[in-house]
Amino acid sequence: MSQSVNARKVAIVGCGFVGSAAAFTLMQSKLFSEMVLLDANTEKAEGEAMDIAHGISFAGQMKIYAGGYDDIADAAVIVVTAGANQKPNETRLDLVHKNVNIFKSIIPEIAKRDFKGILLIVANPVDILTYVAVKLSGLPENRVIGSGTVLDTARLKYALSEHLEVDSRNVHSFIIGEHGDSEIAAWSSANVSGVPLNTFCEMRGHFNHEKSMEAIAEKVKNSAYEIISKKHATYYGVAMAVKRICECIVRDEKSILPVSSMMHGNYGIDDISLSMPGIVGANGIETLIPISLDETETAKLQESARMLKEIAAGLDL
Ligand SMILES: NC(=O)c1ccc[n+]([C@@H]2O[C@H](COP(=O)([O-])OP(=O)(O)OC[C@H]3O[C@@H](n4cnc5c(N)ncnc54)[C@H](O)[C@@H]3O)[C@@H](O)[C@H]2O)c1
Repeated sequence: MSQSVNARKVAIVGCGFVGSAAAFTLMQSKLFSEMVLLDANTEKAEGEAMDIAHGISFAGQMKIYAGGYDDIADAAVIVVTAGANQKPNETRLDLVHKNVNIFKSIIPEIAKRDFKGILLIVANPVDILTYVAVKLSGLPENRVIGSGTVLDTARLKYALSEHLEVDSRNVHSFIIGEHGDSEIAAWSSANVSGVPLNTFCEMRGHFNHEKSMEAIAEKVKNSAYEIISKKHATYYGVAMAVKRICECIVRDEKSILPVSSMMHGNYGIDDISLSMPGIVGANGIETLIPISLDETETAKLQESARMLKEIAAGLDL
């Protein structure tokens, strides 16, 4: 039977730190009128659904409940946050085998119910798991996206806004490539309200561009490690990234976000998912934006892709 889509329904698979923070944020966003929480630990999903539902009378009317795969099949967006998280000193890529196995138990359950919405992957390593979700689901590639470097890009904008004492919403810059250790700050296209970054830095009294940018990119890249060493998990920032992506989908905003999606020849990269800025709307990712990269950035992006492809090639899907 062909499945219909309930445009006002969202589902979250995995209700740990990230899933429950995303659910709490989505409840407050009023984007959806129905939210289903699914977890291998049913009691955890039920407890989170009850707790979050107790905020509804302060936000806006909606239904929140714990459910199974039959309950989520008609959601407009299914957010997958199920999977092990990084422990101190673990990289995101260390999680690959554990989380691919978890995905083997989740994605086919969604696919076999003729899911017609958008699959939003958040669990790590997000680029590899987005690739895995594309391959295991057989869904059209535009409807399978990863949160990718949306969070890293928000971290970069925040760090630059602090450095330059300007509103982070006026900073236009992207982290691209892997959401992880090989990510790249695309400095050559960065600007503040159309003013090239270096010119804006000078306006604000900063002249040592190379050193500052290197320090900011390193800080952004390592911020998850720093947070995990202090509080064992990161979840509020990514919850806001999930909300922002859902907003683009539900409202068909066609906003440009660096989500993770399948590459086909872009910048010489093929058959792997990674983050590049793309137009996101009701159909998921519509098209990638060919931002200009210099030679070093292109080489780093290709190296990031090569490393991800090597990992993907070793998977038994
Ligand atoms: N993409 C990002 O920007 C980003 C940011 C932070 C964390 N993460 C990732 O999100 C994932 C979740 O992190 P967390 O801190 O919430 O972990 P967590 O351990 O708190 O939660 C994971 C949840 O997944 C559930 N789960 C496990 N297997 C399942 C299955 N087969 N079906 C349904 N539920 C299942 C567990 O019961 C648990 O409740 C991790 O992989 C983490 O690295 C991604």
